[in-house]
Amino acid sequence: KRNLLSIQQLSNEQIHDLLYLAERLKDPANRPSFSGHFAANLFLEPSTRTKTSFHIAERKMGFDVVELDGVDSSLTKGESLYDTLKTLESIGVDLAVVRQSEVGGLAACTEGLDMPLINAGDGCGEHPTQSLLDLYTIHEHFQSFRGLHVCIAGDLKHSRVARSNAYALRQLGAQVSFVSKPEWQDPTMTEDYITIDEAVGTCDVLMLLRIQHERHTNHDETGSYLEQYGLTVEREARMLNHSIILHPAPVNRGVEIDERLVECKKSKIFRQMTNGVTMRMAIIHALMKGEL
Ligand code: CP
Repeated sequence: KRNLLSIQQLSNEQIHDLLYLAERLKDPANRPSFSGHFAANLFLEPSTRTKTSFHIAERKMGFDVVELDGVDSSLTKGESLYDTLKTLESIGVDLAVVRQSEVGGLAACTEGLDMPLINAGDGCGEHPTQSLLDLYTIHEHFQSFRGLHVCIAGDLKHSRVARSNAYALRQLGAQVSFVSKPEWQDPTMTEDYITIDEAVGTCDVLMLLRIQHERHTNHDETGSYLEQYGLTVEREARMLNHSIILHPAPVNRGVEIDERLVECKKSKIFRQMTNGVTMRMAIIHALMKGEL
């Protein structure tokens, strides 16, 4: 089956192939045209970056694009995710990108569908395309993963980005450490935590995560978060010279990271978004050509 549902389905060789392909597809002359093909973006949870960058990637590859959401589609009448996707395929859609809230919900739809499916985030499960664009951004800066110290800091328990990246980075030979408030720690990722002060002195990559207010029941969490767990100006000054800052965004400015650091020299936050289009072109290309 030609689907990208989890980062765990990719070998190191496949990840490196995607990094190489993304680099090649930056040049429009290297892009095959999928003119005459239709892509559907079905986003049942909010999105700015993923949805828009898939749209642009699809258009750059020549697709016609159909956009659907959970408000204006017949999902509101009780139609299932599978029936929605089966309908889209029957109408002529060749590829579907899906964000929805049920962990593993897309895997249950693959049987019975021939078109490739891409998981664009499944609740607190995985976000494989974000992970791949993060890997691309790290590789663009360091040209390697082996031996890099990557610290993932923040709301681990609710973070599909952390789950996908922790798995992929370990598989690629990076040393991955974690910073988190006790109530947001996730034993499926690690039992070992360091402090943000230990992290800034030693990490090559500091990957900050958004506090996901919409998934929390206690909404009074941001008070002193920056001082206790976030990247302050003083901590940024102690980071290694060559180190970089990542964040999947949207950023809670002044909570995970001081407002003044969001666009600082070390920050690759907006570069990640640019790379998202490039990497999503590579993912679509590989799936359509049966190379994943
Ligand atoms: N990083 C990310 O998934 O952003 P969106 O929720 O805006 O797509």
